Amino acid sequence: MQLFPTATTFAIFSCLLTLSQAYDIVREYSGITFFDEWDFFGSWDNLTLGDVYWLDESDAFSQGLAYVNSAGNAVIKVDNMHSVQSPQKRNSVRITTKDSYAVGSLWIFDFVHIPYGCSVWPAAWSLGGPTWPEGGEIDILEAVNLMPSNQMALHTTSGCFHNYTPPNQLGATLVTDCSTAAGCTVGELQPNSYGSGFAAMGGGVYAAQFDVAGLVIWFWSRANVPSSINQSNSTSDIDISQWGPPSASYLAAGQCNITEFFTPQQLILDITLCGNWAGLPEVYFPVCGNQGPTGICYNDNVVGDGSNYDNAYFEIPYIRAYTTGGVAPTPTATPFDIISKVDISTYPGYGSVTIPLSAITAAETGLNPSPMFFPGNGASVIGLGCVGWWMVSVGAILLIRLM
Ligand SMILES: *[C@@H]1O[C@H](CO)[C@@H](O)[C@H](O)[C@H]1NC(C)=O
Ligand SMILES: *[C@@H]1O[C@H](CO)[C@@H](O)[C@H](O)[C@H]1NC(C)=O
Ligand SMILES: *[C@@H]1O[C@H](CO)[C@@H](O)[C@H](O)[C@H]1NC(C)=O
Ligand SMILES: *[C@@H]1O[C@H](CO)[C@@H](O)[C@H](O)[C@H]1NC(C)=O
Repeated sequence: MQLFPTATTFAIFSCLLTLSQAYDIVREYSGITFFDEWDFFGSWDNLTLGDVYWLDESDAFSQGLAYVNSAGNAVIKVDNMHSVQSPQKRNSVRITTKDSYAVGSLWIFDFVHIPYGCSVWPAAWSLGGPTWPEGGEIDILEAVNLMPSNQMALHTTSGCFHNYTPPNQLGATLVTDCSTAAGCTVGELQPNSYGSGFAAMGGGVYAAQFDVAGLVIWFWSRANVPSSINQSNSTSDIDISQWGPPSASYLAAGQCNITEFFTPQQLILDITLCGNWAGLPEVYFPVCGNQGPTGICYNDNVVGDGSNYDNAYFEIPYIRAYTTGGVAPTPTATPFDIISKVDISTYPGYGSVTIPLSAITAAETGLNPSPMFFPGNGASVIGLGCVGWWMVSVGAILLIRLM
């Protein structure tokens, strides 16, 4: 039986949340040492069935798909230099931190560029254990194809919810049960969180607070990055009290016992192509069907010279991990063996509607959320129960409803 706490309960917990706002830095991934503390996957994408081979470390370096550029930023990318012939896969990168971060952690991701384009499916996320979704999954940044905005999610076993959307959550709650195939999703409503818009603004910063009181995710386009982040460096601690409202705020109180559903998390960055989100015909075709003669994700994108992947890269000035309460990261003994993170979505059609900014609040409350992701073993799990979701974009003015 799920308890629905009163507004008062939430007010109290919000106050508690504001008490723990000073974080000690425990690790920075940046510059020439960026890749030292990550493991490379070294297999084809057997998790989301994408058309990539995630290279091992030495191949990723020697093939130029993982490197540090002249600006000192780490780059991981999809191969855009070699020709791929059917039915081969295209090379890409997936990396997982050697460390796991416990409840009480905070992560900041500074990105100059995030991969985007037809067939492209990047994610910056965390995972708590080998038997998905035991241990929990936190999707901080995830989007496919030409989506204009980020979509956040938690994935857990049964019993964790996002039923109560705090008034200061900027994003739109789409799915409330974190154990559904979709996870509990929140759509970003701020502009330029993904795609060409994100890059055009000079990128931006994502942050996630993994706290006993809740899971909170922020996004700032470059011009809005808080001064506490601008002024911090590889050794400084950070005060988050002036960060302002978050994009997603999953409160623990009465909805999701964080320590029950989330074990220490490893951070993951990956780029796949097509697969069982970006490549689903229902997802791919409406926005990218004109990419080539067949209208099929793999044929019209992955096959060929790769020049269409010039934007399929992460460029990362730094990722920083912080902790409060003296919790230190735990080195993981063995390379991570991920069973599955399989997202499958489907929707039979889509349409669009333009609404004024002033109507956003009303529109949010009128959202009719439904599952977007359907985890399972392979492409056989297609979520026919998906009846619609919302994607909000461009200055928070354009709403696209996928019916
Ligand atoms: C942080 O730096 C960016 C440029 O990198 C700037 O656009 C932004 O306004 C700065 N934020 C503050 C609060 O000064
Ligand atoms: C980081 O900032 C602190 C305080 O502003 C300063 O004392 C320290 O020297 C800086 N460290 C580096 C590596 O720049
Ligand atoms: C949350 O889960 C932890 C670990 O299972 C448990 O020790 C704790 O009592 C739970 N807290 C609440 C409020 O149920
Ligand atoms: C995916 O491949 C890796 C590396 O070969 C392997 O360890 C893992 O068990 C595979 N996972 C699945 C779900 O097949």
